[in-house]
Amino acid sequence: PAPPALPYRVGHGFDLHRLAEGYKLVIGGIEIPHTKGCEAHSDGDVLLHTVTDAILGALSLPDIGQLFPDNDPTWKGASSDIFVKEAVKKMKEAGYVLGNLDCTIIAQKPKLSPHKETIRANLCKLLEAHPSVINIKAKTHEKVDSIGEERSIGCHAVIMLIRKDM
Ligand code: CDP
Ligand code: ZN
Repeated sequence: PAPPALPYRVGHGFDLHRLAEGYKLVIGGIEIPHTKGCEAHSDGDVLLHTVTDAILGALSLPDIGQLFPDNDPTWKGASSDIFVKEAVKKMKEAGYVLGNLDCTIIAQKPKLSPHKETIRANLCKLLEAHPSVINIKAKTHEKVDSIGEERSIGCHAVIMLIRKDM
């Protein structure tokens, strides 16, 4: 049977990548100058992966790893734009628009506040949304655990989708 057409749907996303030398650091589609980058099959964009999973989660669809398996050579070094765009396409097909998106990037270094507006602008473009409904926060991990020891970067997001015809 067709799923009930709920007026709102909430989604949650989480991702974490190891940091290593020899990789570019790409967050939200923006290349950020740093000594290390995220080790991954794709470009390792922890924010775009998190946002993709938040959208897919809101729609109760299979997650990013199921849609884009990391053993598939197609996604090797892929720009994570592709994943977000596919999730946005599925959101539109299901009849939803973005209500709002709130993200928290957890990185001991580098300082992300100088890049937040650039990242937000790129997310607005990818999600075809107004800046007022997209929020990016950054936190350190107080120097503890893998994130705090600069061995990884994490990200969380919650999203609300609103049905267009309700
Ligand atoms: O003060 P509190 O422990 O709540 O937060 P923090 O982890 O020490 O981060 C303080 C502030 O630095 C954050 O609210 C962000 O605005 C900023 N920050 C950043 O720009 N880039 C990071 N990688 C981490 C934090
Ligand atoms: Zn990822």
